[in-house]
Amino acid sequence: TSQTSSSSSSSLPPPASHFIGRKEDIVKAGRVTKLVNGCRDVLVLYHQGQLYAMDMHCYHSGGALKNGDIEQEFNGLLCIVCPWHKYKITLEGGEGLYQAVDDPLAKPLRTHWRSKGVKQRIHKVTEVNGDVFVTLNESGEAIESDVYQTEKYRTSFLKA
Ligand code: FES
Repeated sequence: TSQTSSSSSSSLPPPASHFIGRKEDIVKAGRVTKLVNGCRDVLVLYHQGQLYAMDMHCYHSGGALKNGDIEQEFNGLLCIVCPWHKYKITLEGGEGLYQAVDDPLAKPLRTHWRSKGVKQRIHKVTEVNGDVFVTLNESGEAIESDVYQTEKYRTSFLKA
């Protein structure tokens, strides 16, 4: 399922959503980061016709995902690769992926990608008449990337 919903029939942004920018500007930039609702650093990115939004700091150690490459070979899933330690995070679901070895005794070793579960908080993107909005995912369940959203981390990252 897509994280982006397009509401051409409606001219109203969804309730509790926050304006990010004009779609044409985001498409041109490819990636935009924004402090949403005064409390959360969100990365909005455009890739192959789709908009995605997620926490801006990598769940592992707070790396700047806006500088990550996007790759597709992991089980066909689109992932952003964190530039700091190359962790792979799916764009749609925020799942952390790892390479599992099928049989440690087999030669040559064969590996395939497995999910560690949702590690990066993904937010909802809506486009209304060329304006792009993000609705924060406020599910109460803790997600690892939340840790880099505290005041302490946000201020230290902004200074860095
Ligand atoms: Fe992203 Fe380590 S901070 S992989």
